[in-house]
Amino acid sequence: MASRFDEIIDRHGTNSIKWDFAKERGKPADVLPMWVADMDFRSPQPVIDALAAAVGHGIFGYSDTGAEYFDALSGWMRRRFGWEIDRSWVVKTSGVVSAFTAAVRAYTKTGDAVLIQPPVYPPMHSAVKFNDRRLVYNELLLRDGRYEIDFDDFERKIVDEHVKVFILCNPHNPVGRAWTRDELLRMGDICLAHGVIVVSDEIHQDLMLDTTRRHEVFAALRPEYADITVTCTAPSKTFNIAGLFTSNVFIKHGPMRAVLEEEMQRAGMHGGNQLGYVACAAAYAGGEAWLEELLEYLRGNVAYVRDFLAEHLPQVRLVEPEATYLLWLDFRALGLDDKALQAFLTDDAGLWLNAGETFGPGGSGFARMNVGCPRSVLEQAMGQLRDAVIARG
Ligand SMILES: Cc1ncc(COP(=O)(O)O)c(C=O)c1O
Repeated sequence: MASRFDEIIDRHGTNSIKWDFAKERGKPADVLPMWVADMDFRSPQPVIDALAAAVGHGIFGYSDTGAEYFDALSGWMRRRFGWEIDRSWVVKTSGVVSAFTAAVRAYTKTGDAVLIQPPVYPPMHSAVKFNDRRLVYNELLLRDGRYEIDFDDFERKIVDEHVKVFILCNPHNPVGRAWTRDELLRMGDICLAHGVIVVSDEIHQDLMLDTTRRHEVFAALRPEYADITVTCTAPSKTFNIAGLFTSNVFIKHGPMRAVLEEEMQRAGMHGGNQLGYVACAAAYAGGEAWLEELLEYLRGNVAYVRDFLAEHLPQVRLVEPEATYLLWLDFRALGLDDKALQAFLTDDAGLWLNAGETFGPGGSGFARMNVGCPRSVLEQAMGQLRDAVIARG
């Protein structure tokens, strides 16, 4: 049966960084882009309608959010994750990268240690390095095709390196793990025991592919966690509105919230995107049925890649994702170094994927592929990849 997500929508000429700037970013103009994490799908109709109404009004002044926005937000968190939030906890930011970067600056001083779990989203590395904090790695372990946490290393590093902040990525980009309750509790208890603040990036919370599970909000697992946690969320990945840069951060602990707000003031971060607020409220209030359809479609895309690789390209291994539309592919069996792998993917296969090594230790020999696209585009991409591998001999 045809799906709305099968429709091919030409994004050329929209100033999309995925589709319009290949040459500027050193790629051939005709490369098939499957990198940056936005999707090639139209947002839910309630979002488009709400935006059209706001645009039709024609005045785009400074804005804030009222009860309607909070009701949509809190209703979403309650329905989807069983999480009760209070209006006072909300800090709105222009994106999650801005939020976790501000949090790093707010809760640490120059030279302080911040722990992340590579291979992981590159701006988490940047937030630490560019602010002259010390990056501490708790590298994930790949065991039988599944990533796991090295808990001994996690605790040892926290103690030995005097870690102040842990940036948790849940679900994890790029390895696709949706951390289990047990895994989160083990990490949380270690952080509690050693006074570590947790900045929990849950931007992919809605993109659970495993139908047997629900996303676990870290701060909700124990009352004590809520007092050490900054939870970063956004409707941007879920509803394909990343360009509107609107995200919601939740901090229950009042003094902790004040410290972040002060840092935001210091950086001149003030006010939010009027259209972003409109889209966010409309998405959380009216986007649920669309999201369920999207998740089914993404499961189909993942299944397509899984089956295709098994049948045609067993040398390329899919790390089975539990969440997100970002697939972590293991190309190590091709025996190429990182530069050669990138050249092979771009020049021979005509695909623009994210290079694995940009995610830090553990990323070499891998690449991240975004499957938030129509099935026919994915079929084309996989065909190009197969042909290029065959041509290598
Ligand atoms: C884990 C993670 N955090 C944050 C972001 C981006 O957040 P924003 O665009 O809201 O700054 C992404 C985008 O891919 C992501 O994967």
